[in-house]
Amino acid sequence: MTQGPPVCLADHEERARARLDAAAHAYVASVAGDGRTAAANRAAWDALPLWPRVLQPLAGLDTRVALLGRTLAHPVLLAPLAHQRLLHPQGELASAVAASAQQAGFVLSTLSNTPLEDVAAAVRDDADRGPLWFQLYLQADRARSLDLVRRAEAAGYEALVLTVDAPVNGVRDGERQAGFRLPPGVHAVHLAAGVGAEPLAVLAARAPTWDDVAWLAAQTRLPLLLKGVLRPDDARRALDLGVHGLVVSNHGGRTLDGLPASATALPGVVAAVDGRLPVLVDGGIRRGTDVLKAMALGAAAVLVGRPFAWGLASAGPQGVAHVLRVLRDELEAAMALCGVSRLRDLPPDLLGRPG
Ligand code: FNR
Ligand code: LAC
Repeated sequence: MTQGPPVCLADHEERARARLDAAAHAYVASVAGDGRTAAANRAAWDALPLWPRVLQPLAGLDTRVALLGRTLAHPVLLAPLAHQRLLHPQGELASAVAASAQQAGFVLSTLSNTPLEDVAAAVRDDADRGPLWFQLYLQADRARSLDLVRRAEAAGYEALVLTVDAPVNGVRDGERQAGFRLPPGVHAVHLAAGVGAEPLAVLAARAPTWDDVAWLAAQTRLPLLLKGVLRPDDARRALDLGVHGLVVSNHGGRTLDGLPASATALPGVVAAVDGRLPVLVDGGIRRGTDVLKAMALGAAAVLVGRPFAWGLASAGPQGVAHVLRVLRDELEAAMALCGVSRLRDLPPDLLGRPG
């Protein structure tokens, strides 16, 4: 293992591997099929060159962005990740508090091991924190889903993120080879026992449709985002239904192998909504340069998943905070080295050969 304190996201990944039991590690690391989509996520960010403009004034380097009526200190949010108590005894509480301390947004998964009220109570009153959102997996029992929505509203969540790319589980060999099962004491506190473990045909028959999106939008006063959109026509359909934001995502390559990289899908979705909705992106973001590239492709903000899971496993809340700190520091360095002082108006030619 690398000597000395961790300095980059990969250092946390290495430490997490050494600390976690094999099954929990496999759950987080697992990818669908042969891992082509997961690899493509990384490769697509790597393939984008940054074309720096030299000798630019850089006073007042500013990473702030506007998102759903708020100003964020920087554009990084923690993605919804199930079962964070697999990684640390404090689970979601640890990551939410770390996000708050680093002014990052936090998206709590439906499959949390901590009640949504407890997570909200831990961070709600921090004036500098980023946005607090609740990710929804619609349940077969829509009344139960509505109950979760009401609880999220009452607890102070500021938006709902409906995940639409995982109506059934992906085929993840790594998880099955490791014999992954939730250990005793770790369970999805928002769900009835046994939910989600049904056969594929049962899950598929109850999978949400566009009608459910319209229904949900009409039920809540919270902004509604759809997570897991890759196609421009789906983006336009969401726009027509009055959705408030999109997350371009292939679930970190965990659902269907063969999906395009998120960086490949992002420009089409950005063009389809034409500035009328914020478009966020996740998948394979591991460096500040990746964040800058996403913003240059038109993302309103980015989410990171596995990197903070590794931070949580390697060093608890401090590990998550460090992951966010590193990303922000790397983003600022990348901005300065590209001759960009404000994230809000990036030069459109940052990724293309300047004329
Ligand atoms: C996820 N993801 C996810 N997404 C979601 O909407 N609800 C969830 O409960 C989960 N759970 C989950 C667990 C684990 C262990 C992982 C790794 C991922 C997907 C997640 O929100 C995000 O889309 C990806 O993790 C982004 O890719 P990277 O950053 O992990 O490469
Ligand atoms: C996963 C599901 C829970 O990716 O979203 O593990």
